[in-house]
Amino acid sequence: GRVGVLYGGSSAEREVSLMSGAGVCAALCEEGVDAHLFDTGERSLADLAAAGFDRVFIALHGRYGEDGTLQGALELLKIPYTGSGPLASCLAMDKIATKRLWLQHGLPTPRFAELACDADPSGLARDLGLPLIVKPPHEGSTLGLTRVESADQLHDAQALACRFDDLALVEQFIRGRELTIPVLGSGAQARALPVIEIIAPQGNYDYEHKYVSNDTRYVCPAPLPDALTHRIQEIVVQAYRVLGCEGWGRADVMLDEQNQPWLLEMNTSPGMTSHSLVPMGAKAAGMSYGRLCVEILSTARC
Ligand code: DAL
Ligand code: MG
Repeated sequence: GRVGVLYGGSSAEREVSLMSGAGVCAALCEEGVDAHLFDTGERSLADLAAAGFDRVFIALHGRYGEDGTLQGALELLKIPYTGSGPLASCLAMDKIATKRLWLQHGLPTPRFAELACDADPSGLARDLGLPLIVKPPHEGSTLGLTRVESADQLHDAQALACRFDDLALVEQFIRGRELTIPVLGSGAQARALPVIEIIAPQGNYDYEHKYVSNDTRYVCPAPLPDALTHRIQEIVVQAYRVLGCEGWGRADVMLDEQNQPWLLEMNTSPGMTSHSLVPMGAKAAGMSYGRLCVEILSTARC
């Protein structure tokens, strides 16, 4: 039947999603799937209901695409969709709720504080130490994120995060290596793909170094001892399961100088451009971009 690739949307990550959706749709067509692009930023839910899709592939990032709202609407419309359901999507979109849940399950995530947009941030450097990461808890692609090296930068960092959100997440910065790990499948079948290491200039893996410049290096599989790789993959699959994620996802992790992994966040609708990280992990596991798209599509359910 007809497959809709939902892309674009209206979040701050619209531009990324336009690339993800175009890549997914082209690959699905090449694999013989009757796939069509559908921009949820330009068309209405009524159009979506009338489009006659038997299933949809969600290639949207951020608000109204990755955050559970669209997933809820698709449940009401009874259109099967890829990825996590409304609750897991909503939880994972909220980095603070995610961290609380992980801590409850004994999973490692950096110490943090919630910062209201009108609160005085000056005590946080004393409470949490420096450097700190300040970010909007419901954004993606490092939008609105600042690495704070001295207490007098906290105020500007708070103001920037608050341009994207109605509060800020302040987190201890973990010095070390930056890793990301894709996960495929659901429940007991969930499995981690090979670990990817990201090497950005001066450790600045920001929006520019994700999508614009070409000076970020990626190593996959990450050069780590086997036992450590397995431990990281185990933690990530647990982190995925306790959130109730389904279908696919990608966890961002920092590995500190003592080789302790720290979970930063779970992406339930990760980037799917041909240069993105989930396709990179899949390739290292012997799965082409096209097969990956078909495999994710096969997990669509209502
Ligand atoms: N939020 C971006 C799209 C990612 O996680 O890949
Ligand atoms: Mg993200």
